Amino acid sequence: MSVKKISKEQPDSFEFSSGNVDIAKKIISNYPDGKEQSAVMALLYIAQRQNNNWIPLAAMKHIAKFLNMPYIKVYEVATFYSMYNLAPVGKYFYQVCTTTPCMLRGAYKLVELCKSKISKKENELSENGNCSWVEVECLGACVNAPMIQINDGYYEDLDKEKLEKIIDQTLNGETPKAGSYRGRTNSEPEHDRKTLMELKNA
Ligand code: FES
Repeated sequence: MSVKKISKEQPDSFEFSSGNVDIAKKIISNYPDGKEQSAVMALLYIAQRQNNNWIPLAAMKHIAKFLNMPYIKVYEVATFYSMYNLAPVGKYFYQVCTTTPCMLRGAYKLVELCKSKISKKENELSENGNCSWVEVECLGACVNAPMIQINDGYYEDLDKEKLEKIIDQTLNGETPKAGSYRGRTNSEPEHDRKTLMELKNA
């Protein structure tokens, strides 16, 4: 599993944009008086979205003030959950699932490809800064294993050759099509198969 990395380079300040202030206030209003701190995870997520997909320490301090809670508590939440990035990530952020179903279907070949084409170590930017990758636990699409997530999209039914093309596209700044790379619709069977007897497993 990946190790949480906090960026050594940090901006001096962070504030929610006016649009995000409105969103944050709306989220906070969902909680009873005195329980505003329950919005901390949602606010961290908004901060990450606003700041190119990573959360600087200044954002945690901003959220602590916003929710009137100790900074260390915001820090604890941000450093605990793997969904929060605490250092800059690529414009195309790869999350490679290596939990058992994906691992059995070749996930580590995908990891090796990320190492050779993006960066030797996870959490490091590619030379042109376009991509970065990280190993993650199950992303809930095991039936389409092996799979990866790039930003908000799921890329499924992969193999080394297919991922190689995807990586080349993203290194060139192009966004590949998300979904199954064996032509399936979501997790439906291939070849329009309706029963287990119709065709042998692909
Ligand atoms: S094991 Fe990879 S998505 Fe579940």
